[in-house]
Amino acid sequence: MSKKLKVAVIGVGGIAKTHMPGWAASPDAEVVAGADVAANALQEWGKTNGVTRLFADPYDAIHDPEIDVIDICVPNMFHAPLAIAALDAGKHVLCEKPLAPTPSDIRNMIAARDRSGKMLMTAQHFRFAGVSRAMKREIDLGVLGDIYHARSWMLRRNAMIPTVGFTKNSLSGGGPCIDIGVHALDLTLWLMGNPKPVAVTGTAKNMLSHKPGQFSIWRSGPMPPPEDFDVEDFAAAFVRFENGATLVLEVSWFLHHDTMGEDMQIW
Ligand SMILES: NC(=O)c1ccc[n+]([C@@H]2O[C@H](COP(=O)([O-])OP(=O)(O)OC[C@H]3O[C@@H](n4cnc5c(N)ncnc54)[C@H](O)[C@@H]3O)[C@@H](O)[C@H]2O)c1
Repeated sequence: MSKKLKVAVIGVGGIAKTHMPGWAASPDAEVVAGADVAANALQEWGKTNGVTRLFADPYDAIHDPEIDVIDICVPNMFHAPLAIAALDAGKHVLCEKPLAPTPSDIRNMIAARDRSGKMLMTAQHFRFAGVSRAMKREIDLGVLGDIYHARSWMLRRNAMIPTVGFTKNSLSGGGPCIDIGVHALDLTLWLMGNPKPVAVTGTAKNMLSHKPGQFSIWRSGPMPPPEDFDVEDFAAAFVRFENGATLVLEVSWFLHHDTMGEDMQIW
């Protein structure tokens, strides 16, 4: 590649910090700009990473002619508008998961990608883990035969990021189903060979987050109050695919289950 792609990170909070080593290791891209509505966090991030092009308005980064790639690391509800604007401005987009909270948002993002001719990628990084790739290789070699059923889960005892970006529906658009569930589901569908779903039934409940004494190991102190925690804390689904295969998905931020083997327990 003759020139390094110039990247602007939008939203410089928790996950953006974990993107930085990846960008720093790339011979083909470099982070040259950042944008965030939180001025202090943006200044601090700029200082830490040696980035001086800092924007209070993310759309200024999107319309900066020097920028080639927009890395979207903001709460879920802002993913679609920012990604569509960036694609329409001729930028490639890496967007944190979930790509967006609703299928129609995602269809609009894909349409923007198609009319721009640029790349749109979501940060479903589970596929890139060594164990996932090794499993995929075995499956593709036929070691498991035909996959006719899958159980997919990400069940946490008491571990969620207790900030409104995750717990308030107007910012997150959903709870663990689209937070950790998208990771489990993406990995499972990929391992199954991406069969076409034909029917889905599901449930989503908030049973535990409002109980007194509830806590997350991510932060000491109480949960956000109920008015700021209006997404589910548990979800389950049953999916049937065109090829006859089926899948069960279970996700929770607060399932106080016994440890049923390391594969079932995240924290
Ligand atoms: N891939 C993963 O495993 C993983 C892990 C954690 C979070 N995430 C995703 O990353 C995204 C952000 O999560 P986080 O944990 O970094 O949240 P965070 O709250 O730590 O950071 C979000 C940042 O975005 C800024 N922001 C909010 N709205 C903005 C806007 N409209 N324009 C510009 N900046 C804005 C906030 O000020 C904050 O600095 C979410 O979509 C989340 O699902 C992915």
